[in-house]
Amino acid sequence: MSDVKYISGKEPHPKERRMIFKNVDREGWDQSIETYEKDGGYEVLKKAMKMAPGDITTEVKTGGLRGRGGAGFPTGVKWGFLPPNNTKPVYLICNADESEPGTFKDRYIIHQDPHQLIEGMIISCFAVGAKLAYIYIREEFPEGAQILEAAIEEARAKNYLGDNVLGSDFDLEIYVHRGAGAYICGEETGLIESLEGKRPYPRIKPPYFPAAMGLYLCPTIVNNVETLCHVGHILRIGGEEWAKIGTPNNTGTRILCVSGDVQKPGYYEVEVGSLTMGELINDVCGGLKEGRELKAVIPGGSSAKVLRAGETFKVGRGDDAKEIDIWNIKMDFDTLAACGSMAGSGGVIVIDDSRSISWVLNNINAFYAHESCGQCTPCREGSLWMKKITDRLVGGTASPTDIDTLYDVAKNIDGRTICAFGEASAWPTESFIEKFKDELVADTNPELAGEKVNNEAQLAAAGLL
Ligand SMILES: Cc1cc2nc3c(=O)[nH]c(=O)nc-3n(C[C@H](O)[C@H](O)[C@H](O)COP(=O)(O)O)c2cc1C
Ligand code: SF4
Repeated sequence: MSDVKYISGKEPHPKERRMIFKNVDREGWDQSIETYEKDGGYEVLKKAMKMAPGDITTEVKTGGLRGRGGAGFPTGVKWGFLPPNNTKPVYLICNADESEPGTFKDRYIIHQDPHQLIEGMIISCFAVGAKLAYIYIREEFPEGAQILEAAIEEARAKNYLGDNVLGSDFDLEIYVHRGAGAYICGEETGLIESLEGKRPYPRIKPPYFPAAMGLYLCPTIVNNVETLCHVGHILRIGGEEWAKIGTPNNTGTRILCVSGDVQKPGYYEVEVGSLTMGELINDVCGGLKEGRELKAVIPGGSSAKVLRAGETFKVGRGDDAKEIDIWNIKMDFDTLAACGSMAGSGGVIVIDDSRSISWVLNNINAFYAHESCGQCTPCREGSLWMKKITDRLVGGTASPTDIDTLYDVAKNIDGRTICAFGEASAWPTESFIEKFKDELVADTNPELAGEKVNNEAQLAAAGLL
C-alpha cells in the first residue's frame, strides 16, 4: 500500500500502473497550479526548454509513444511529418472531443489534473514550433472547459504561457474552444473545419493531412489529451526508460475504460500489453455479473470490431505463432489488430449472455446514423439504412434476407467514404454479422421469408405494423 490516500477509498488495483492518473481521486489533491507544482509540476517543462526542440521529438520517438485517440499512430513520427523549411505558422490542437462511445478517460484528466495536460501541451508546442495551440473540447464538458480556462490563466500568470515563456524567446498561447457536441468533431479534419468556424465536414486525405495542410491550411499537429500528457512523462524519465514500460512496440501505460457487464466497470491505467482480456475482466474488473457468461467484447470503443467469446485468434509470427481464445488476448495495439479488431480509444465494452446481439447492434447503429455528417452518400444513407434494418430486427419485423442486405450495406460503406467514420459505422455491423449471424437471423421473422421488406408500407401490408 502506498502513502497516497484516495477519496473514494479505493486503492488502484495491483495490476494498475498509474502515471497519467496518478493524482486522480487522490486525497489532498486539487486542480490548482500550487498543488501541481508542489508535486513537481512544470519541472519537466523547465528541463524541456533547455533542450533543442528536435531532441524532444527524438525522445518521443525513442519512447515509442502511440496516439491514444484511436488510430495508435506513433506520435513522434507524426510530428516528423511537419514540412521542413516551413514558413507558415504551425498549430497544435489537443483533441478533447472524447466522443467515441465507451471512452471516458480524457474528461477525468481534464477535471482532476488539468495542469498535466497544459504542461504536456507546452512541451509539445515547443517541440513542434507552435506558438498557438487550441484545446478543442466537446460541448458536453462545460465544467472541463472552465477548469482548463482557469488552469491556462494560472499558467500564464507564472509565465509558463504567454510571451517569452520562462524567459526564453518562445511565445505561446493556448485557447480553449468548445465544440457543439457532434461525434464527427473528434475526427481531426472535421475538428479543424469546426475550429475554423465552419460545418465540421471532414476533409479528404490526401491532400489535407493536418501536418501538411491543417488549420487555416497551415501545418498542424492534432493529438489526443492522453497522448499529450504522456509526452511530459517521457521527458521526465527519458524516452529509453519510458519504452521499457509496456511491451515492445506497445510502450507506456494507457487508460482502459471498461464498461458493460462486469462487476467493477471504470477506468484502469495499465502498462500496455501487461494484461490479457481475462485478467482485465476477471481480475481487475472483478469478473462478470453473477451467473453470467461472456458473450462478446468490443475492445477499443464502439467502432472496433467485436470479438466473440468462443472464437479463436491467430497471433504471433513464425515460431511465435499460436492460436488463442478471447481470454488470452493481450490488451495491446498489435495483438488486438492481429485478432481482427483494434485497441482504438481504450474503451472496452463487455457484453454478457443476457444481451441480445440485435439490441446491441441496433444501439450502435442508432448512434452512427445520428452522427454521420452527411457529406458522403454511402455513409449518410447507409448508416440510416443499417439503423432501420436493426430497428426492424429488435421490433420483430425483419425478414431473414434483411441480414444479407444489412451486410451488403455495411460493405458498401466501408472504404468508400471521405473519412474513417465510414469504417467506424460499418465495422460493428460487418463483425456482428460475421460472428453472430445465427443469432441475428433467429431474431428475424420467418413469416417474412422471401419477401423484400424495405419500407413501412410493405410492413403495414403484411400486417406487421
Ligand atoms: C469519427 C472519428 C471520431 C474521432 N473522435 C476522436 C475523439 O473524440 N478524440 C480523439 O482524440 N480522437 C478522435 N478521433 C481520432 C482523430 O481523428 C485523430 O486521429 C486523433 O485525435 C489523433 O490523436 P493521437 O494521434 O494522439 O491519437 C476520431 C476519429 C474519427 C474517424
Ligand atoms: S464518412 Fe460519414 S462522417 Fe465522414 S465525411 Fe463522409 S458522411 Fe461525413
